[in-house]
Amino acid sequence: MYLNKEEEKMYQGEYGTTVAKSMEILVALGNIYEAPSLIDISSAQISGVSYKTIGEAGLEYLEDLSKNGANLVNIPSTLNPAGIDLDNWKTLKFPKKFSEKQKRIVDAYGKLGVSKTCTCTPYLIGNVPRLGDHVAWSESSAVAYLNSAIGGRTNREGGPSALASAICGKTAMYGYHETQNRIANTIFDLDIKISGLDYGTVGYIVGKEIGDGVPYFNLKNKSKNTELKSLGAALASSGAVALYHIENETPEYELAKNDKDFKTLEKITISKEDILTTKENLSTTNEEADLVCLGCPHASLEEIKEIAMFVKGKAIKNQLWVCTSINIKASADRMGYTKIIEKSGGHIPTDTCMVVAPIEDMGYKNIGVNSAKAANYVPSMCGLNVIYDDFKKLIKFK
Ligand code: F3S
Repeated sequence: MYLNKEEEKMYQGEYGTTVAKSMEILVALGNIYEAPSLIDISSAQISGVSYKTIGEAGLEYLEDLSKNGANLVNIPSTLNPAGIDLDNWKTLKFPKKFSEKQKRIVDAYGKLGVSKTCTCTPYLIGNVPRLGDHVAWSESSAVAYLNSAIGGRTNREGGPSALASAICGKTAMYGYHETQNRIANTIFDLDIKISGLDYGTVGYIVGKEIGDGVPYFNLKNKSKNTELKSLGAALASSGAVALYHIENETPEYELAKNDKDFKTLEKITISKEDILTTKENLSTTNEEADLVCLGCPHASLEEIKEIAMFVKGKAIKNQLWVCTSINIKASADRMGYTKIIEKSGGHIPTDTCMVVAPIEDMGYKNIGVNSAKAANYVPSMCGLNVIYDDFKKLIKFK
């Protein structure tokens, strides 16, 4: 792979060992995928944050890296959710030892110069690339949103490669960075209008069908941004989808539609029945949820408002978490939504979520979710039962 003079210096260690080690990762990836060169990026989003997923080895690696790499990251960079609410872990009863280790991980990222905002919806809090921007993002739901709804360009990075990119400000030029890899390979027609929970369910069906392909949707209705984030999260969890197009909605649908082979693509119709059956099959129990956990991907202000209006003036029987970023929570505080939710007995944990938090060690058994991605991961990553439904059906009142 070609390196320019500056990149060669970085690779040879003229800017220190941390930069050299990071360049090694990027060059190795570039060579594997036969990238012709590196390319400058405008932002990074880094996974591999929860102590639950990276453990002691990850903590040591990051602390070691941060010792020699203070403030090396100079492009806008955000972190994926951590295993705890960094400010309120005591109130929410997160285990003490786990919380202490978790804080050390986030501090190490902070020392490197990465913003300590832990969220999987960085595009809701200012990490918003522009159409055609090359970036290195590693949270799969954010990757799908970025490539599809925004029209930025990223591969599905791993935590270490996204961090290496953040440190060097570069990524290898291959995969979804190249226009020829952004065309569709299967068309999905919806024979009914869809809304809310349906988006996640459809994403789950299509992800399973298409694996790492690029689906092209013909919908009968216009989508909201929150619905697109659910669709992408589900597509990326049951499959490995990094990019989708929706006719007349997403910024690059014409690129796909004008491709010479578009008319010959396989067409699959998704029916109301497919959606209903898949929705039912995603639940693993008929019992009530003891913890209803919403905000996967992290909730937007509009979603929090809807939940607040639903619980207003009532007493919630189950535990309720609405997961979001610290930035969106600050807006919810100012709007009075946090107070309404807390008065009803719920909480708005920041920085974390039902999959990367150690909820299996916190006494919960049945987790209610309105996210197909969470329904897919809670049983496998937490070993708990899951109930997948609209939040209005999951939340029970006294
Ligand atoms: Fe985000 Fe956690 Fe869901 S990282 S996409 S809330 S599983």
